[in-house]
Amino acid sequence: MDVRVSTRDVRQFDGDAVAVGVFSDDTEPQGPAAALDEAMAGVIAGLIAAGEITGAADEVTLLHTLGKIEPERVVVVGLGARARFTPDRVRRVAAIACRTLRKAGARRVGLALAGAEFGVNLAQVARAATEGALMGLYEFTKYKSSKNGNGADGERDGGARRRQIESITILGRGREPALREAVERGQIMAEATNFARDLGNEPPNVLTPTELAERARRMAQEVGLECEIFGPDRMRALGMGALLGVAQGSAQEPRFIILRHRGGPANEPGPAFVGKGITFDTGGISIKPAEGMQAMKMDMCGAAAVIGAMRAIARLKPAINVTGIVPTTENMPDGNAYRPGDILRALNGKTIEIVNTDAEGRLILADALSYAVQQGMAPLVDAATLTGAIVVALGKVRAGLFSNDDLLQRTVLSASEIAGEKFWPMPMDAEYDALIKSDVADMKQTGGRAGGAIAAAKVLSNFAGETAWAHLDIAGVNDRDKKDAEGDSGATGFGVRTFAEIATLLAERNGAR
Ligand code: BES
Ligand code: ZN
Ligand code: ZN
Repeated sequence: MDVRVSTRDVRQFDGDAVAVGVFSDDTEPQGPAAALDEAMAGVIAGLIAAGEITGAADEVTLLHTLGKIEPERVVVVGLGARARFTPDRVRRVAAIACRTLRKAGARRVGLALAGAEFGVNLAQVARAATEGALMGLYEFTKYKSSKNGNGADGERDGGARRRQIESITILGRGREPALREAVERGQIMAEATNFARDLGNEPPNVLTPTELAERARRMAQEVGLECEIFGPDRMRALGMGALLGVAQGSAQEPRFIILRHRGGPANEPGPAFVGKGITFDTGGISIKPAEGMQAMKMDMCGAAAVIGAMRAIARLKPAINVTGIVPTTENMPDGNAYRPGDILRALNGKTIEIVNTDAEGRLILADALSYAVQQGMAPLVDAATLTGAIVVALGKVRAGLFSNDDLLQRTVLSASEIAGEKFWPMPMDAEYDALIKSDVADMKQTGGRAGGAIAAAKVLSNFAGETAWAHLDIAGVNDRDKKDAEGDSGATGFGVRTFAEIATLLAERNGAR
C-alpha cells in the first residue's frame, strides 16, 4: 500500500474519496469537515442540523460530491465525544472509513482525521490513522480462487477480484517532518501486524514448524536480522526435553527459531521476546473436542507476534540488542506421543510431571525461557495463546499480564498504551505456588480449573527464575471470531506493537543511563 502525507488544505486533495470526522458535541462542522462543508454548499452542516449526522462513535455517512470538489465521495465518520477522543478511537474510525470507501470502489483515499484544531497530538492521531487504515484493509485471500472461488460472492466476501484501495493520504495541518515520521512509524507497525496476521491465518497443513522457520528466515533476510534455526538434533544436544516431549507425537519436526536485532554493544545480551509456536494443537493424548478445534491452527499467534515484532524492530532500529525466540511444534496424538504421567526434564534441569497433554504451551516455553536465561538475556517477555482460563477471565478484549518484576510490568503497560493493545495485570501471589506442587517431580504441569491461567504462569516463572520476566497470555485476543466494522475475522496480530514499543522503551532507558 502506498501511504502518503499532505499538509495541504483538504479541499486540494485530488484523490477520489476523503474521510473527515465530526464529534458528537459539534453543532456545526469543525476543522477539515468545515472546509469541505464550505466547498460543498453546507451539506454537512445541514445534515448535522437535521440530526442525520450526530457524530456518534462509529457513525458513517457517505456523501457524493457531484463535482463540487475533486474527490467524488466524502465519508463523514462519527468521532464520539470530544472529551473521549483518543488514538484508539482514531485507529478504529480510520479502519471503518477505509473499509466503507473500499466497498464504494474508491482507489485513492484521503484521511483528514488529524486536525491540529482538534486540540490533540497530531502525530499520535496521524500514526493511529495510518495503523487503522492499513490494519482495517487487511484481507487474507490467498486461498480464494480469483475467478470462481466462492461463486458469485467472490467480490462481496473479499474474494481476490474486489477493487482495492491503492493509496492512503494522511491529511494533517501541521509540521510536515513530524507528521511524516509518525505516519512512517504507523506504517511499520501496521505492516508488521499484518505480517503476523498472515502467519496466524495460514492453514496448519501449510504452516508447519518447518515452514514457520522458513518464513522467519526469509523475513530476517529481507529486513536484516540474524537468524538461527535448531532442529531436533541440536535440541537433544542442548537438553530441551520439554519441547522434544511435546514434539514426539508429531510427524513434523520441531524447530527452535532465533532472530537477532543488533542495535547495541556486542557484549550485551539484551532482552528476549519469546513466542509460543504450536502450529496445531489437537490436545495430544488428552485430545480436545472436535468442535472448534480448527481454531487451534492459531496456537502459534505468540510466535507470530514475536516474529512480526522482530520485523518492526529491524525497521525501527532501536539502539539495543533484541532477540526473538520461537519454539515451534505440533501437538498431536500418536503412538509415540507423550502421555499424562510422563515426567519431562527441561533445559534448566527442572522436571515437570505431565497431567494433561493439552497443556503443552508452557512446556515448549519452559525450554525457550531456560535458553534465554542461559544466554544471559534480560528482561524476558513471552507471548502465548496459553490458556482457555484467560479467555474466561478477560474475554476477547484484554490479554492477561503476569510478571515477577514491577518495573518490567510497568514498562509493558506503558508500551501497550502507546501501542493501543489492552492488557490486565494478573496476580502471582506465592499462595498460588501450591497449585503446581507435585509429589513426584519438581512441579506439576497443571493445577486444575481454579486459577488456570495463573497456574500456567507459575509454571513459566520456574524457568525465568530470578530474571525479570513478563508473560502475556493472548488466548482470546489473538483472533476475531466474526468480521466487523473494524476488520476481517481471523488473526489480529495482537502483541506485535506492544513488543516493538517495549524494545523502544528499553532502548530509550539504556540511552538515558
Ligand atoms: N492452546 C490452548 C489454549 C487456548 C484455548 C488458546 C482457547 C486459545 C483459545 C492450550 O494449549 C490449552 O489447551 N490449554 C488448556 C490447559 C489445561 C489442559 C490445563 C486449557 O486452557 O484448557
Ligand atoms: Zn493445548
Ligand atoms: Zn496450545
